[in-house]
Amino acid sequence: MINLPQRPRRNRKNSVIRNLVQENSVTVNDLIFPLFLIEGKNKKTEVSSMPGIFRLSQDLLLKEIESCMKLGIMSFDIFPSLNDKLKDKKATESLNKKGLYPSTIREIKKRFPEAVIMTDVAMDPYSSDGHDGYVKNGKILNDETLEILAKMALIQAEAGADIIGPSDMMDGRVGYIREALDDAGFTDVSIMSYTAKYASAFYGPFRDALDSAPKFGDKKTYQMDPANSKEALLEADLDAAEGADFLMVKPALSYLDVIKSLSDNFTLPIAAYNVSGEYAMIKAAAAKKWIDGDKVRDEILLSMKRAGASVILTYFAKEFALSKK
Ligand code: PBG
Repeated sequence: MINLPQRPRRNRKNSVIRNLVQENSVTVNDLIFPLFLIEGKNKKTEVSSMPGIFRLSQDLLLKEIESCMKLGIMSFDIFPSLNDKLKDKKATESLNKKGLYPSTIREIKKRFPEAVIMTDVAMDPYSSDGHDGYVKNGKILNDETLEILAKMALIQAEAGADIIGPSDMMDGRVGYIREALDDAGFTDVSIMSYTAKYASAFYGPFRDALDSAPKFGDKKTYQMDPANSKEALLEADLDAAEGADFLMVKPALSYLDVIKSLSDNFTLPIAAYNVSGEYAMIKAAAAKKWIDGDKVRDEILLSMKRAGASVILTYFAKEFALSKK
């Protein structure tokens, strides 16, 4: 025998020992399930680029939440898909207290007070320009947008949101929203900031789901350049100082280095958004039997935990929970 004092394979020799030395794991407690909401009753339409993911009317969304909670999923991020007729330049519908979104949040919290509901703050689902901010003369205006975002956040908080998720990437929005929430007495409402949100091609299927693609240009004047990582630290410094409770990196898979860097440098919990295009790629390859979709799903979720995420937003949440039953 060769003299080898260290044989790392000893710690891999059977599954019991492998479990003893396992450094990371994923459980349903780590997951937030994004759900798409539409108008109507008993309506369910599949997002064609996201097999297994549906836009649901309020009644069916409530049923879906109930069934997920039975599987142990307790956190949900709701996104509204609105009729084009309700969209305008100022995202007016986002400020309608009786609108589909706030009334659904109210209903969810009434039926399932123990569910944690995260809401989305950005103008794109309501904007006729399909941008996250207010557009004037072809430019996305920062400070004018903040006012709309803060009002939107207040309406969501009043409706019962537990976590506000600003996904817009305007400068200063976390502080602006925090102050508005605190002034209105919502000191307990959390902010999960989309801290390092990149201008990514992986959002395509999500924009199909909400029909929210930009009507002109792209989002590169507000979302980050995929070439940059130090800039993520700058964004994280600002969000931490402005009062964020969670720092999110989005997308997740091509940005595991950014997750790792934020987790090494900040004490706040890190969230990873395993986005629509990442889900679509795995579903497409699995449908062709080119990969084992279930195993790849578990492996990529684990990679996000290993990189340092404590929270994962993923369209795989329900099927992950079902597979562990
Ligand atoms: C927009 C928003 C996007 C996503 C969440 N919020 C898309 C975008 O910035 O165009 C993407 C989520 C996904 O791809 O799963 N505010």
